[in-house]
Amino acid sequence: SKPPVKVTVTGAAGQIGYALLFRIASGQMLGPDTPVTLSLLEITPALKAAEGTAMELDDCAFPLLSGIEITDNATAAFDGTSIALLVGARPRGPGMERGDLLAANGGIFKPQGQAINAGAADDIKVLVVGNPANTNSLIARSHAPDVPADRFSAMMRLDHNRALSQVAKKLGVSVADVTNMTVWGNHSATQYPDLFNARVGGRSVAEQVEQEWLESTLIPTVAKRGAAIIDARGASSAASAANAAIDHIHTWVHGTPEGDWTTAGVVSDGSYGVPEGLMSGFPVTAENGQWKIVQGLDINEFSRGRIDKSVAELVDERDAITGLGLI
Ligand code: NAI
Repeated sequence: SKPPVKVTVTGAAGQIGYALLFRIASGQMLGPDTPVTLSLLEITPALKAAEGTAMELDDCAFPLLSGIEITDNATAAFDGTSIALLVGARPRGPGMERGDLLAANGGIFKPQGQAINAGAADDIKVLVVGNPANTNSLIARSHAPDVPADRFSAMMRLDHNRALSQVAKKLGVSVADVTNMTVWGNHSATQYPDLFNARVGGRSVAEQVEQEWLESTLIPTVAKRGAAIIDARGASSAASAANAAIDHIHTWVHGTPEGDWTTAGVVSDGSYGVPEGLMSGFPVTAENGQWKIVQGLDINEFSRGRIDKSVAELVDERDAITGLGLI
């Protein structure tokens, strides 16, 4: 059988960690033929809770789980790792300004980028989930100069899945019938789900819905879904976020279906006018473990305005972390 793949999860004792680890260990992320070793990185006060989660992982007797390491040391956590899921982040506290938030996250993602650079395996793939995910991913990537930039990514897949589900409901079709969805830009309220290029039954979704629904229902529903879930559940989305992380890595490793694509936050090469180096949501295919930005899509005036607005926010965040000396 194959040797185990080391998977590092930061924030392992948190909500998303609890929804994520069991699915990784059961084989849903890397597939039924790939054993895994889990490395759980937490801050010192949360190590005990991480140990509790590890006890439950033991009690599942997952045949694919070959070992669990728990640590508060980033260097140890990322040593030899092939998949890094950076979930732990500093949430925005009451009255916290954006600069404070970015500085606090810089203190997390800079050393983690350095530890990945120092010790991760040659085939390392990094997914940043912790918010602000795109900019945290940019911080980590900037401190891992020896790792190819395209091995870093940011999670836009939850936004993508939310858009698929809303469109499927609206058109009365299965989510599997909705293809070629893209959520452009930042994982924030400015994100733009593109229904012009998305397809159902071989036709653009935008041709099958009213522009009014697209603008006044779909876009705000997807953008504000996180808040709606907190409101309903009394806690933030964790299972769906963990599911999106599983989907993201599964697609990255196993590829996208012929003719379709997905959304991932990846480093811009300047495509579609997104400044080079930003971590932005793009339409991407995956093949042989590599993302590729889909080229040549038609971007109409409405889409252009929305994409530009979200990308401007990414530029602002990049300028802010540059000003703070974080990159
Ligand atoms: P949580 O607060 O339940 O868990 C976060 C965990 O991270 C805590 O256990 C904390 O101790 C740990 N942590 C903090 N600093 C750390 C460090 N330096 N190293 C290792 N661990 C550290 O939060 P939850 O619900 O699990 O969410 C995690 C993050 O994911 C949040 O930033 C949230 O905003 C983000 N998120 C992103 C989504 C996306 O679509 N990109 C969707 C949903 C959540």
